[in-house]
Amino acid sequence: MRAYYYDNVPGDQRLPHDYIPSRPVSLEKLASLGVKFWTIPVEGYEAEVDRIAEKEGYRNRDTINVSKEGLGELYETKIKGFFEEHMHEDEEIRYILSGSGFFDVRESPSDEWIRIGVEPGDLLVIPEGIYHRFTLDEANNIKALRLFKDEPKWIPYNRSVDTDANPHRLEYLKSIGVGA
Ligand SMILES: [Fe+2]
Repeated sequence: MRAYYYDNVPGDQRLPHDYIPSRPVSLEKLASLGVKFWTIPVEGYEAEVDRIAEKEGYRNRDTINVSKEGLGELYETKIKGFFEEHMHEDEEIRYILSGSGFFDVRESPSDEWIRIGVEPGDLLVIPEGIYHRFTLDEANNIKALRLFKDEPKWIPYNRSVDTDANPHRLEYLKSIGVGA
C-alpha cells in the first residue's frame, strides 16, 4: 500500500497521479480519517483474515473480479461508475487477492483527494460516510474479497447537496471531529 495526495491533473484516471515531488500520506493520517489498514500475506491469508473478520464483526464475504476480460463490453462503463465520487451507509472492506488498483478518499475539511494504491495482501476499510472512488491502474485487473457485516449495503450515494445531509455523512464528519 502507498498513500499520497492526488495531483488533480486531468487525464487517464488509471495513471498514478502522484505530485512531483510526491506528497506522501501516513497511516496515522488515514486513521484520523477513519480509514483502517492491515497487511496480510496472501499465502495462507485465510486464518488472519478470519481473525480480523471475527474481531471486527465482518460475518460475510464474497469475491469480486474486475478486469477487461471479466466485464467485456461493460468494462468502460463500470470503470467510470466506480470513479464517481460517492459514499455508502456502511463500511467498504476489501482484501486484495491479486492485481492492483487505486482507492481515492476525500480528506475533510481540506477536500483534497488522497490516493491509496493497493496490492495483494492489503486489507482496507473505508468508513461509512466518507466520499471515495475507485479505479483500476494500467494493469487493468484486480481480484478482491469484499467483507461485510450483515447484508451488503453497497448503494453508492453520489456526492450532492442531499448526500451532504445524509445522517451517515454527518455522523462520519462528527466522528473525525469535523463539523457540528
Ligand atoms: Fe464505494
